[in-house]
Amino acid sequence: STQRIALVPGDGIGPEVTAQAVKACDAAARRFGLDLAWEEYELGADYWRITGQVVPKDVEQELAKADAILFGAVGDPSVPPGVLERGLVIHLRTAFDQYVNLRPVKLLPGVPTPIEGLRPEQCDLVILRENTEGAYVGAGGFIHRGGPDEIATQESVNTRKGVERLIRHGFRLATGRRKHVTLVHKANILTYAGDLWQRTFEEVAAEHPDITVDYVHVDAMCLYLVTQPERFDVVVTDNLFGDIITDLGAAVQGGLGLAASGNLNPTCSAPSMFEPVHGSAPDIAGRGWANPAGSILSAALMLEHLGHPEAARGLEDGVKAVLPRLGAMRGPEMGMSTEDFGDAVAAAISES
Ligand code: NAI
Ligand code: MG
Repeated sequence: STQRIALVPGDGIGPEVTAQAVKACDAAARRFGLDLAWEEYELGADYWRITGQVVPKDVEQELAKADAILFGAVGDPSVPPGVLERGLVIHLRTAFDQYVNLRPVKLLPGVPTPIEGLRPEQCDLVILRENTEGAYVGAGGFIHRGGPDEIATQESVNTRKGVERLIRHGFRLATGRRKHVTLVHKANILTYAGDLWQRTFEEVAAEHPDITVDYVHVDAMCLYLVTQPERFDVVVTDNLFGDIITDLGAAVQGGLGLAASGNLNPTCSAPSMFEPVHGSAPDIAGRGWANPAGSILSAALMLEHLGHPEAARGLEDGVKAVLPRLGAMRGPEMGMSTEDFGDAVAAAISES
């Protein structure tokens, strides 16, 4: 049956990279017999300038009916910082209860990584970042603002339900992978939130005797992710720690241009949203320099989520086939235009 995908290309290089992801998905749809219907929504800087709104209620209700959302990036120098990012990306994550932020950290063959000697088989993990609470709920305030005795507090909110559903998703995911889950926190110092996370983790782990577990402090994680990424299969962590270690993960796997993500609502009560980790990159927009790999790999996560693992692998294999032909992985040195990259991936999928 037809699956409806809402396409939100956004600003800057967003439309350039999502066009390649759509091309790759359409090639995979022909090759693997999927029926995908795209509906494009022109949200972003221009829309905000013309209408004064980031995402009107009726558009949000339309998006809510889609089977998935493929998102590019928003943000423009002419718009006050945060208006679009918060108003669109953060808003939809919350409105659609996309409580898992999934970020694979996978080194693909032929990709230059800053870690000398690291081989692809040593770097294949998935980080699940809690996407709806923690330090990002905006709790806290000024006990005293201004003057020499200022005091600001910023609280982290952790609910049993919020923590447990994220951890449970990690164990579900690990079942189909190498069956190992790592909890990353700072439980020795952040003792209240750490206690809730550790107890919940241990309880869920007890229900999964076939899955091995361990615990790593977030500072140590920054070391191990670089020196021993092979230690990790599925990593579960809170919003703030996840934000930080996933950027480190992006660096390890070869940079922003390659990093993919999914904002998942595993209950499917609302659509999940898939987007490259990078932003709208106004500095290179319009030049054909953007690497579309992150967007195409995000579309692969989307096809997997929609129940098409073969087609998802088709997209990943297509990217793998073309990547070794590139010079530097992003920017003017990429050695292949954004569109040529998309065409080559689509051709590789069709010929597979
Ligand atoms: P950015 O990720 O857009 O760019 C950082 C640097 O990486 C730039 O030099 C850019 O040219 C380069 N780059 C990024 N993606 C690339 C790709 N696919 N290929 C080649 N080079 C690439 O981050 P920046 O510059 O901090 O933010 C630009 C705008 O994007 C801002 O308005 C920011 O708020 C917004 N943003 C939006 C996000 C979203 O929509 N989810 C996420 C991050 C930033
Ligand atoms: Mg970030």
